[in-house]
Amino acid sequence: TNRTFTMIKPDAVSAGNTGAIIKLIEEAGFKIVALKKTQLSPERAGQFYAVHKERSFYQELCTYMSSGFIVPMILEKNNAVEDFRKLIGATDPKKAEPGTIRNLFAKSIEANAIHGSDSDENAAIEGSFFFSQLEQF
Ligand code: GTP
Ligand code: MG
Repeated sequence: TNRTFTMIKPDAVSAGNTGAIIKLIEEAGFKIVALKKTQLSPERAGQFYAVHKERSFYQELCTYMSSGFIVPMILEKNNAVEDFRKLIGATDPKKAEPGTIRNLFAKSIEANAIHGSDSDENAAIEGSFFFSQLEQF
């Protein structure tokens, strides 16, 4: 069994979709290892998305990601990273498969409801961005 990292993004938290999204995640067989509600400063959002700093949408993305509460989580399941990316669907909700979390809840390519790590290595780095080692039991 292994782990991935996710966060419910400001658009979905402010729309009151946190509970519905967590229900879909649990129904898909993921166990919640760690969970909190918090808010990023623009600087910390910039650190989290540093891999995108050369992209045209980077400033906008940092402003959006720091605009409200987020719910970061560490999740556990066999094949966690790949299965979770399938559960959330494509980055652009117009391209996300029916029934995926982004298809159901995303507002736009930017305000797309939820994040999912893209590798085991990044899952560990991103989990440790929000949770201490003691919180990752
Ligand atoms: P994450 O799980 O959030 O990492 O999404 P992803 O892996 O499906 O997409 P990617 O890592 O390429 O982009 C990170 C985030 O940047 C996306 O989830 C969007 O919130 C935002 N984003 C991606 N492409 C665009 C774009 O073309 N315009 C804008 N405004 N935002 C974008
Ligand atoms: Mg990504």
